[in-house]
Amino acid sequence: MLHVAVCGSGRGSNFQAILSAMEKKSITGVDVRLVISNNSTAGILDIARAHHIPAVHLSQKQFPTETMFVDAFLELLRAHEVAVVVLAGYMKRLPPTVVKAYRRRIINIHPALLPKFGGAGMYGAHVHEAVIAAGEKESGATVHFVDEEYDHGEIILQRRVPVREDDTPASLAERVLNVEHEILPAALHHLAMTLSTGGNL
Ligand code: GRF
Repeated sequence: MLHVAVCGSGRGSNFQAILSAMEKKSITGVDVRLVISNNSTAGILDIARAHHIPAVHLSQKQFPTETMFVDAFLELLRAHEVAVVVLAGYMKRLPPTVVKAYRRRIINIHPALLPKFGGAGMYGAHVHEAVIAAGEKESGATVHFVDEEYDHGEIILQRRVPVREDDTPASLAERVLNVEHEILPAALHHLAMTLSTGGNL
């Protein structure tokens, strides 16, 4: 069983998509042990609580130094025996010490076809505005390993959607979000299967 922590800052629809896929058994071998949010009022924490999954508000603001925040973050992961961390709308950059401790064991979902339209500032509507402004004929979503740079690590899974002439950032965001909800559970299932059969990521 792959023990997973999910980190998010918002409503948690990608986290819900993981839970729904588990319930439908379209992904197996995954156990969500912990949800962390930097936002005490984030919907993702409410979803975790409704599923009796430990839901923790943990923010850099609660600590005088980054080192103390990192120690608390890593201790939480260790205490819940977490093997893989899923960033699902987590708006903070993970400290390099955490990335190093979980090299190729942290994945992120991004609402564009990386490496295009990624990096600092490329989040939420900004991504879809940029895609439309660039005249792209297609967009999509990407699951990738997290490294020390924003939206930069090796790509695990991508799926494309058309950009329509009359698309607004909101209509494109909705089409991309539907694909996010498919590829994040699929990528997590792939990791679980790979690790459970002794494979390397
Ligand atoms: C998603 O669009 C994801 O691609 C981005 O943040 C959003 C999170 O949405 N990283 P939700 O909280 O999972 O609904």
